[in-house]
Amino acid sequence: LVKACIFDLDGVIVNTARYHYLAWKRLANELGFELLEKDNELLKGVGRMEALEIILKIGNIQIYDPKFKEQLAEKKNMYYLEYINQMTKEEILPGVLKFLQLLIDHNIKIAIGSVSKNTRTILKKVGLESYFDVVVDGYKISKAKPDPEVFLKASLELNVPPNECCVFEDAIVGVIAAKSAGMKCVGVGDPRILKDADKVIQSFENQGLELVMF
Ligand code: G6P
Ligand code: MG
Repeated sequence: LVKACIFDLDGVIVNTARYHYLAWKRLANELGFELLEKDNELLKGVGRMEALEIILKIGNIQIYDPKFKEQLAEKKNMYYLEYINQMTKEEILPGVLKFLQLLIDHNIKIAIGSVSKNTRTILKKVGLESYFDVVVDGYKISKAKPDPEVFLKASLELNVPPNECCVFEDAIVGVIAAKSAGMKCVGVGDPRILKDADKVIQSFENQGLELVMF
């Protein structure tokens, strides 16, 4: 058994990946181009400004003014906040609460490792703000995934060495970050996309402790 589990937030605990997509799509449409659902895969786990760069590339738009870029990212975040402010605990993904409780009951520490600056807001919205031993969010790090910083910071705060931590991730960059942090990694989603993870699950429904045995 591992000693700690570190969960990505967006797309693992809650389905906010959809809201990120809708918010970026609104921005893209205003800029005069379309953002397809399949392009969303590229945005998962990537920091806000890095995601904006990807969006601008898709739309073939060149912007040199960093202030203007900040404004666009802020606008996207306003749209995103409109969606997440409506969230309730019903939006916690299936099986997640039960699985977290199982870990807690077996003295396995739990943490959030997300580059999102909206992490605290979302945890509060869905009633999970005091659930985790450690929360590492976008305010605590300077390098987005695939850099391992977010997970290494969580391991430090948890006081559990990387090789005894297991990361749960839905994004390719997140799996890369976990593996380069020297951690175990369970992918949540499509095994064809998350092929570098040690294991891949479709959802947390009916998952037992054997999932974190390596
Ligand atoms: C997560 C999401 C990304 C998002 C990033 C920054 O990693 O998967 O899609 O771009 O957080 O989120 P933020 O809420 O700070 O804009
Ligand atoms: Mg994610």
